[in-house]
Amino acid sequence: MKFTTAEEIYNKAGGKRNGLPAWTYNNAELTELETERVFLRNWIWVGHVSDIPETGDYQCIDLANERALVVRDEAGEVRAFHNMCRHRGSRVVAESKGHCEKAFVCPFHGWSYKFDGGLKNIPRANSFPPIDKDEFGLKALDCEVWHGLIFVRFAGEGPSIAESFAEAEEEISLYKITDMKPYDEPWRWDFDLDWKSVIDIDSEGYHVPIGHPGLFDLCGSSYKDEVLESGIGRSYGSFKDRKAKMPLVKNYIESLPESNYLPESHRHLWIYWGLFPGIVITLFPDMIEVYQVYPTGYQKS
Ligand code: FES
Ligand SMILES: [Fe+2]
Repeated sequence: MKFTTAEEIYNKAGGKRNGLPAWTYNNAELTELETERVFLRNWIWVGHVSDIPETGDYQCIDLANERALVVRDEAGEVRAFHNMCRHRGSRVVAESKGHCEKAFVCPFHGWSYKFDGGLKNIPRANSFPPIDKDEFGLKALDCEVWHGLIFVRFAGEGPSIAESFAEAEEEISLYKITDMKPYDEPWRWDFDLDWKSVIDIDSEGYHVPIGHPGLFDLCGSSYKDEVLESGIGRSYGSFKDRKAKMPLVKNYIESLPESNYLPESHRHLWIYWGLFPGIVITLFPDMIEVYQVYPTGYQKS
């Protein structure tokens, strides 16, 4: 792995220390543009394969005015579609997660769709001029399953998640993420902040000593941020032989089960891999955590 140092980044920016101008954090039109050009045209993390283990299991995600329906089809493949009926555009599925027995039936007039997106049935079809059913299936979305993590892309094109994370592949594959099971419900935090403010802080370890005293007690000055040549980020800290002071942290170190499935080098590391815009994969010795920061409106993320 080839890292870019803070000094190289500084030099690349022509020795300028200022970041984006202040107005970019406080402008409704720009937020709208960023949502459309950045988030709807890049990968959005939806969940893990264990969220939809059986045929007909589905999960939905909305972003801005777009909505995705992700389903496990009859062949066991994970597929994604616009959650939008081809008749008058109703949501085909209203719940955010669930299981469908036979076919998705639109709640408006009852058009039904197979798990591969194909249009199955039109009630009272003879009241319409002849319709070629093959032309009116659900519109497919780009969908990628990488190490058991499911991503969708609403528009645009570009490298796959696997290509983007190529430099992380070797390390991430150690964790056997595909075989993992959820230990808790997903969480969501709503901030009254521009999404860039969240990512600026989150991707920079400088806030750790005061912002996360527990993490600082765990890893001390071993905590580092690295930017790889491809632009993905890796932050990590080690607690090997660490003498922690906080009872909670001491307790964590003492009670952590030996993660024999990992090589010795990774049994006492916390690692955060980050991909623009806002995807973070956190690797702990005994579990992982994945999240994504995205705008939910003006000054909201
Ligand atoms: S909008 Fe779905 S059946 Fe009419
Ligand atoms: Fe933080």
